[in-house]
Amino acid sequence: MPFYGGSELANVYDDALEKGFGLVASNIAEPNVMMGLMEGASRVDSDLLLQLSGGAATFAGNEDPVDGLEAMGTYIDTIADQYDIGVFLNMDHQTDPEFIEAQMDLGIPSSIMIDASHEPFEENVATSREIVEMKEEKGADVLIEAELGQIKGVEDEIESEEAFYTDPEQAVEFVDRTGCDLLAISVGTQHGVAKGKDLELRPDLAGDIRQALRDHGLDTPLVLHGSSGVQPDQLQRMLQHGICKVNKDTRYQYEYTRTAYDLYDEDPANIVPPEGVDGDRDTFFNDTDWSPNKDVFDPRVAGRKIRERIADVHADLAEVSGSAGHSRYA
Ligand code: G3H
Repeated sequence: MPFYGGSELANVYDDALEKGFGLVASNIAEPNVMMGLMEGASRVDSDLLLQLSGGAATFAGNEDPVDGLEAMGTYIDTIADQYDIGVFLNMDHQTDPEFIEAQMDLGIPSSIMIDASHEPFEENVATSREIVEMKEEKGADVLIEAELGQIKGVEDEIESEEAFYTDPEQAVEFVDRTGCDLLAISVGTQHGVAKGKDLELRPDLAGDIRQALRDHGLDTPLVLHGSSGVQPDQLQRMLQHGICKVNKDTRYQYEYTRTAYDLYDEDPANIVPPEGVDGDRDTFFNDTDWSPNKDVFDPRVAGRKIRERIADVHADLAEVSGSAGHSRYA
């Protein structure tokens, strides 16, 4: 049964901290990206952490996030059975306690991120603590990630115009008072389409946060959000400082669309009438001799290419983050 819960995921993070690697936490909203990720992770013998945001669950569930989680959970569980690696699911950037409670009751996710980082410190502590208590009361096999500091950019329904770097001493107080299992920190990354060359990254600050936590007996794995633009050398510097989870969403979104675009752009006449040909789409081109090419427009053609590309991209990222070759289950 390779789709695992929180206690197994905690073992993977223990390995990651000990060996100095990170899991590339990869967002999905539909099956092609999910299958590409499983193929890529398995190819390089890495365990895989998928992520579903609230918006992605809502999309997958035809506007009902609980249905979306159940549908994607079943899909992940079924396809994960084809592979020997461990597969995990994190619920990314969660803000609604009711939906979080449903996630725990369903027992599908391996971890849940409560994102109250936009709130003042005391409110952030209280909201994050509430979710940790919910988990404890229910005895749910799930890890809780919370965030301190603010990351610039847009991720799903969360938007921030400014960045606030995480303060190491406040991080200690935050982890101590909330009891969170993972801590997302702000050290200069940015959500969305960001270029590594423009980021003011602070791996030194990640190191200070890690050290401050350890000085207080806390071995909390750190999480890097907004990592799509972070370049391999930048990422490796971050991994030296206790970052065990590296979140990427935008990169896969681009790869998905670019792969389909390249396919259709090879010869647009496979899809749309060439210049000078008037074709009526509403009659399925009954009025012209030209026809679209089913060998290209069948969505499975683009879908397979998308899966292959996502597999290649993820396999490379798993090599860079060091999780390749470290699956606990292969
Ligand atoms: O939680 C998700 C991430 O922080 C994604 O950030 O879209 O910049 O890759 P990204």
